Amino acid sequence: MAASVLLASFLMLTCLLLAEGKTHRVAPGPAAGPLNLTTILEKSGQYKTLLRLLKETQVGVQIQSQLNNSYNGLTLFAPTDNAFSSLKAGALNGLNNQEQVSLVLYHVLPRFYSPSMFESSSNPVNTQASGSDGVYTLNVTGTSNQVNISTGVDQAEISNILYSEFPLTVYSIDKVLLPYQLFGPKPPEAAPAPAPVAAHKKKHKKAAEDLAAAPAADADIKASGTRLKKSKLMWGLALWGFLFFVGSLM
Ligand SMILES: *[C@@H]1O[C@H](CO)[C@@H](O)[C@H](O)[C@H]1NC(C)=O
Ligand SMILES: *[C@@H]1O[C@H](CO)[C@@H](O)[C@H](O)[C@H]1NC(C)=O
Ligand SMILES: *[C@@H]1O[C@H](CO)[C@@H](O)[C@H](O)[C@H]1NC(C)=O
Ligand SMILES: *[C@@H]1O[C@H](CO)[C@@H](O)[C@H](O)[C@H]1NC(C)=O
Repeated sequence: MAASVLLASFLMLTCLLLAEGKTHRVAPGPAAGPLNLTTILEKSGQYKTLLRLLKETQVGVQIQSQLNNSYNGLTLFAPTDNAFSSLKAGALNGLNNQEQVSLVLYHVLPRFYSPSMFESSSNPVNTQASGSDGVYTLNVTGTSNQVNISTGVDQAEISNILYSEFPLTVYSIDKVLLPYQLFGPKPPEAAPAPAPVAAHKKKHKKAAEDLAAAPAADADIKASGTRLKKSKLMWGLALWGFLFFVGSLM
């Protein structure tokens, strides 16, 4: 509560100062206006693929609204267009929509990290894609002049700081972070081979079921046959009875 009041008054003060700056046409302030991730990424022109993904997966909107009400802040690892174009062909298109969302969220940490904070962080580090079961994590190892991020599949290096002021840090990285859960070796059960076997089994099972159902169906046909015969007999008798009756009247 106290923190939000403090934050609100700070924002108000900032707005007043910015407004003041505008009316008096003093030297242009730094990033005027509200914090805008798109603007930060658009500035250098090297993040077109990431911007497209942030838009398509709606993660951009999500980040923007989290920035508004997050007490921990956020950190984004922004792979350059070069990083995306050096991926294996089809790596991105091979992912379904949900997996693309996970990939983008994997590049977002649910708190603000300045470079020096990585030196004291303990691994593995949770990302926005992490569930409660410790998946989609990253290992970050840093010294004062170099920070490496490893996923278990590949490793990236922070090459540049695009923005770093609470609540947001944006780091430029030279590789797309490939989560183990999407790009790691597939466990044998997930290999495509078992699928046809399962289908085969299903087929067999279906055939077996049909077979088991067959005698019953057969019995049904027989039963209805008997019923048919019986009812024919009844009608026949009734007809004969009627004719007999009519005949006796004449
Ligand atoms: C951020 O800026 C872009 C244009 O650069 C604009 O389309 C978008 O609406 C802005 N987002 C927010 C949350 O202000
Ligand atoms: C964030 O807060 C600002 C100011 O309160 C508001 O104008 C903006 O629409 C909010 N953006 C989102 C994405 O909620
Ligand atoms: C980062 O990785 C490079 C190799 O890619 C290695 O030489 C360097 O020592 C690593 N730095 C840290 C801080 O882990
Ligand atoms: C990440 O760090 C943890 C703890 O140090 C370690 O057990 C794990 O093997 C590391 N994973 C990768 C992919 O480096």
